[in-house]
Amino acid sequence: MSQPLRVALAGLGTVGGGVVKLLDANRALIERRAGRPIAIVAVSARDRTRDRGVDLGRFDWVDDATTLAMRDDVDVVVELVGGSDGPALTLARDTLGAGKAFVTANKAMIAHHGLELAETAEKRGVALKYEAAVAGGIPVIKGLREGMAANEISHVFGILNGTCNYILSEMEEKGSDFADVLAEAQRLGYAESDPSFDIDGVDAAHKLTILSSLAFGTAVDFASVAITGIRHVIAADIAEAAALGFRVRLLGHGEASEKGLFQRVHPCLVPLSHPLAHVSGSLNAVVAHGNFVGRLFFQGRGAGEGPTASAVVADLIDIARGETGPAFAMPVAALAHPAIASADDRRGRAYLRFTVADRPGVLAEITAAMRDAGVSIESLIQRGVASDGNVLIAIVTHISPERAVQAALDRLEGSQSLTGKPMLMHILDE
Ligand SMILES: NC(=O)c1ccc[n+]([C@@H]2O[C@H](COP(=O)([O-])OP(=O)(O)OC[C@H]3O[C@@H](n4cnc5c(N)ncnc54)[C@H](OP(=O)(O)O)[C@@H]3O)[C@@H](O)[C@H]2O)c1
Repeated sequence: MSQPLRVALAGLGTVGGGVVKLLDANRALIERRAGRPIAIVAVSARDRTRDRGVDLGRFDWVDDATTLAMRDDVDVVVELVGGSDGPALTLARDTLGAGKAFVTANKAMIAHHGLELAETAEKRGVALKYEAAVAGGIPVIKGLREGMAANEISHVFGILNGTCNYILSEMEEKGSDFADVLAEAQRLGYAESDPSFDIDGVDAAHKLTILSSLAFGTAVDFASVAITGIRHVIAADIAEAAALGFRVRLLGHGEASEKGLFQRVHPCLVPLSHPLAHVSGSLNAVVAHGNFVGRLFFQGRGAGEGPTASAVVADLIDIARGETGPAFAMPVAALAHPAIASADDRRGRAYLRFTVADRPGVLAEITAAMRDAGVSIESLIQRGVASDGNVLIAIVTHISPERAVQAALDRLEGSQSLTGKPMLMHILDE
């Protein structure tokens, strides 16, 4: 029989526990597909006494996960601890530096240190794999890196954070406000006790930078992502969007053009005719445009024990088969460092929501600001007085330069007519 691929597993939480269960459940099939057995030899987590619902007695327990890199009886280390730095990064550096393959689900670490790690992997001729880091169980890393390898890719965008999509879908279904749905999501375990990485768009931005690099052949560039989360989306935005034929989704959007690389995470109005509008609950989805293949749409579970373990073990099978190609689809030295494209030069439709005082002339003031900035209005909804005495005005603009829409908002800055900060969301028209 061929030599087994010997695995060390750091982290035995949701994903790590799932990997143990999956390797047990599908052992024979995985061995046939991989051409040899995949065998865990050592594991590590913080609390040795915790019952994880799996038999860990057969594996060597290690208290200090960072020592796994140096074991002679290990061919590949799987890191499922998390955190962009700390023990995860130490383990990644030491494992690759020692000439062993490394698998991770850690998008934060790949977004911040992926290039350095890929360079070490290249130098040592070993694999660095991270399929589970973006969109959980959806094979979108393989889709871009392998399936679309022959294409020039112009756009990649999608729903990259299941917590935000769950919150927005619940707000839509129940008509509830953001804070209430977030509290309920936390109670049910769908959102972290500190949800800021998710709801402020940072997690989606980590994933977007990885997708952009693979899609466009550019260096991973987290610093240039413009990030807006979903904290300021109110139930009325979702209701007005629905009345106008849209659903609100948090999208990560990457684009490569002659103007440079553009990356943005933002709540967006998606027309009901677009498949992303129908991606609800905790699902993820990614759209990519290739110049020969056309539009591809990937959809599935972006998180959770089973889907994430599925992606981690797929990486292990690749490694068992001897796949050691470059982590970002080309050698790090070949990745481009393009200029950063400004949002000001972009054109599109926008949704604007104002809460205003109930008095004559307010609507005229808003429409005059838009006229003066050169933005024309496609549709407008004005809702009567709410219990707090405010009136809501929701506007969809015709296609306009983003700088003009911003100029209209700047003109209204400080206006006594506005009783709250206006909301701007872009509209997906591709
Ligand atoms: N959960 C998902 O659906 C999902 C989806 C995609 C990607 N990911 C990524 O997968 C990774 C793991 O996520 P998770 O949800 O499985 O996290 P988790 O449930 O919190 O598990 C983390 C594990 O790491 C262990 N750990 C923490 N600090 C450690 C240290 N210093 N040394 C050794 N072990 C340590 C914990 O030990 P104890 O159990 O003893 O506390 C726990 O077993 C993260 O990078 C995450 O972003 C998760």
